[in-house]
Amino acid sequence: MEDHHWYKNAVFYEVSVKSFKDSNGDGIGDIRGLTSKLDYFVDLGINALWLLPFYPSPWKDDGYDVADYYGIHSDMGSMSDFDELIEEANKRGIKIIIDLVTNHTSDQHFWFQESRKDSSRDNPYADYYVWSDTDDKYNGVRVIFNDFEASNWTFDAVRKQYYWHRFFHHQPDLNFDNPKVHQEIFDILDFWLDKGIAGFRVDAIPYLYEREGTSCENLQETHQFLRKMREHVDERYGPNQKILLCESNMWQDDLLPYFGNKEVKEFDMGFDFPVMTRIYESLARENVSPLMSVMGEKHHLPDHCQWATFLRNHDELTLEKVTPEVREFMWKYYASDGVSKINLGVRKRLATLMENDQQKIKLLNSFLFALPGSPIIYYGQEIGMGTDLTLGDRNGVRTPMQWDRTTNAGFSDAEQSRLVFPVIDDDEYGYHVINVEDQKSDPNSLFNFIRKLIKLRKQYPFIGFSEYNVISFAEKKGIAIYHKYNGFELFCAFNFSSHTIEINKNLIGMEKSDEIRRVFDENTREIDQFVLDPYNFQWYYTESK
Ligand code: BGC
Repeated sequence: MEDHHWYKNAVFYEVSVKSFKDSNGDGIGDIRGLTSKLDYFVDLGINALWLLPFYPSPWKDDGYDVADYYGIHSDMGSMSDFDELIEEANKRGIKIIIDLVTNHTSDQHFWFQESRKDSSRDNPYADYYVWSDTDDKYNGVRVIFNDFEASNWTFDAVRKQYYWHRFFHHQPDLNFDNPKVHQEIFDILDFWLDKGIAGFRVDAIPYLYEREGTSCENLQETHQFLRKMREHVDERYGPNQKILLCESNMWQDDLLPYFGNKEVKEFDMGFDFPVMTRIYESLARENVSPLMSVMGEKHHLPDHCQWATFLRNHDELTLEKVTPEVREFMWKYYASDGVSKINLGVRKRLATLMENDQQKIKLLNSFLFALPGSPIIYYGQEIGMGTDLTLGDRNGVRTPMQWDRTTNAGFSDAEQSRLVFPVIDDDEYGYHVINVEDQKSDPNSLFNFIRKLIKLRKQYPFIGFSEYNVISFAEKKGIAIYHKYNGFELFCAFNFSSHTIEINKNLIGMEKSDEIRRVFDENTREIDQFVLDPYNFQWYYTESK
């Protein structure tokens, strides 16, 4: 029997507080700005917000370098602003989840400042981080940010030892062999959960432990800690009351254990990285084999769990978990400009990856909403915002939200030079051409298309818990997700190619085929013509009750 917990069928919205709406005119988005936009989410049909880090931080990694887990960055507001956000969101039935960075802290964090002072037993923080006299331990472990860092070790001149870091050198990894670190994490969880948030997106989870002779990823010890964390949350708040969403960008076989099983739980949700990457690969190849390879039996999760499906986020389009050949192919296809390549990925928003082809953008969004899982929209995706490739690191996909045609796109009243990032203002993606206000009043806009997708998702909630099959057709140019639930059938078909293709009616096999309804009605074809134009899609619905 499937269960119907809210997160199994919710539409999430990933939002960067500092880039969304500035309420006090200092050029930086803030919590009060976000609160002032809550009705925007109600209008769109969003059920839950995922807030990117807003903690005090030197801001060298977009806030993932946390300097204090119990505060709010002063540029983004205060704790009472946060409480007000939760209260106002609750009133509107919107849940909030926030980022929890467990793997590392900023080197500015008090724990690290203490830890580096001395290695003696008298120092309670001495073992909070992973220290070593040499930099040859855990040899061969890959460097994730390979464009920026040459090693996972950095020498600290104060303690005169090396410290371990899987990401930037200013982000020392916490030492999970120290039980005090576990307790610190649990205290942080309790603090925020007590404030009324619905859960956490737990960051960079595969890298918590280090063991010689291993990749230092997905270790058993990490899973043991995660089970302990799950138990802690369930004991305190009751089972399935608070969600933990796992960021583990891994091959499918390594990712699945993070969901645990019926008896031993870990995460409720996990990002569907394997499907996300293969959406782009399938589109580039005009062949859905890559998607078919990850959407078989294995893709089905334990009943209490759900995929968090997405097209893009605040990071690069990651190509870490594909073969080197596929990566080269994808770079050639999506990053031929030579500047959008970063680490092992591509730093572009969806619209830019699609070269602003509205048909392809709609195709991928409609695929996202048909997937088994709960879709996450990255802010700006609903209007097709572009990328500023002149900004460093991944900041080009983090520019201010484009609300309207007024100064600074309606994001802030500050002088342009004070904005957290410049507003995009080129001819193709600039706020004069792409903004919420214009799109709201245009029935054919992307915004209204996404709003329709969200409505459809609510109209056919069984997408979130149906029995489903994934079928390829037309020599793998097309793919369909066939949802069946208690006599309801929804056959969602997508053409990933530049050819017109036909769907064999037998594939659909809906029991009362004379009563099939097409969900997207833009197409004026006869209902019994199962044809898809290039990069087009259609959902076919019937009830056999
Ligand atoms: C976050 C990135 C961040 C990294 C290291 C990731 O999982 O999504 O934005 O750079 O963790 O902190």
